[in-house]
Amino acid sequence: MTNNRFCIKPYVFFEIGTDGYCYFCSRLWNDSYCIGNILEQSFQDVWNGDKAKELRQSIIDNNYKFCDTNLCIMPTGKPIDTPVADYPEEVSLCYDNTCVQQCVYCRDEPHIMSEEEQKKWDDLIEPVFIPMLQKAKLVTVNVAGEVFISNHSKKLIKRIAEVYPNIKFAIITNGILCSEENLKKLGIADKITDIRISIPSCIEKTYNKIVRNGDYNKVMENLKYVSKLKKQGLINVFHINCVLTSWNYKDLIPLTKFAKELGACVHVMIAKDMGQNTKFLNQLDKYLITKPEHPEYNEFVKIMNNPIIKENDDFLINDSFKHLTPLSIKEVIKNKINFYKKYGWNKD
Ligand SMILES: C[S@@+](CC[C@H](N)C(=O)[O-])C[C@H]1O[C@@H](n2cnc3c(N)ncnc32)[C@H](O)[C@@H]1O
Ligand code: SF4
Repeated sequence: MTNNRFCIKPYVFFEIGTDGYCYFCSRLWNDSYCIGNILEQSFQDVWNGDKAKELRQSIIDNNYKFCDTNLCIMPTGKPIDTPVADYPEEVSLCYDNTCVQQCVYCRDEPHIMSEEEQKKWDDLIEPVFIPMLQKAKLVTVNVAGEVFISNHSKKLIKRIAEVYPNIKFAIITNGILCSEENLKKLGIADKITDIRISIPSCIEKTYNKIVRNGDYNKVMENLKYVSKLKKQGLINVFHINCVLTSWNYKDLIPLTKFAKELGACVHVMIAKDMGQNTKFLNQLDKYLITKPEHPEYNEFVKIMNNPIIKENDDFLINDSFKHLTPLSIKEVIKNKINFYKKYGWNKD
């Protein structure tokens, strides 16, 4: 599998995750190899530290011993023969888990950074984050929490936009505050390339059951705004991210039609226990509609075989979350995971 491939991610991509641990792949979805901690080490000691060099060397040696090559869609590039890299081109900020919504599969309690926690991260803005971004083309915010709620994330984004007017942003959000006004306040309304809005359904009743403390009407309004940006060609990627469970699978057809009207692509992610310890995740087996043992599995398969979904190139379903790789996002969109084969639909 690794023959003729050279993964360039460790030369271009840097993610800062929970508690400051850093990665070359998205930690949230893959069990990726930790290269250090930005709260304890300097950026260069992480980015070009022993662990980072060791991982790059494993790619140069083509043994990929730190990677799960079965799970990974590797971004390929021209071979590079040094374990040392300059600065990242893409940075994903994935450590700020501030959010006041409580989607059943994500959290049971809201989280706001304490003053102390915020200061700890604010103090990294000038000495660490700004210099680290000197070659960056794209910054992704915020895979861990809700960017529009966090004072720290907002402060950081404003500063990045001020210092580096050419950096583009990829935003992942629940959509409640993703308005033109709020993007303007952050100074990035004209610097966005990619917006992913997470909603479990376009049907209000289902939305309210899953997104506790949500705001259906606001999300609908902001989806229309983002749709306009997409239709005018002002953003490249517009996804509706939908976490699939037995609570919302029946809404997939209306969601797909709804997304089509908006010019968005539906990106379905199967609910996964990432250790958040919510009541819902603690009983996840009961809600995993993609398991053939689930009592409603056949009904789910029928829905997935509906031409509105089956024949829709803008409907993606991904059970290993390989899609969160900004560099290759366009490729990934084209390369739908072969979900049909995996769940045996051809046999039905
Ligand atoms: C943690 S959220 C943070 C960004 C933002 N607040 C949002 O909701 O999009 C990032 C993505 O993870 C998804 N997500 C949350 N919990 C999940 C779970 N247990 N399994 C799969 N996806 C999950 C969300 O739907 C969202 O698309
Ligand atoms: S999925 Fe996003 S909006 Fe929902 S609780 Fe998690 S961070 Fe908040």
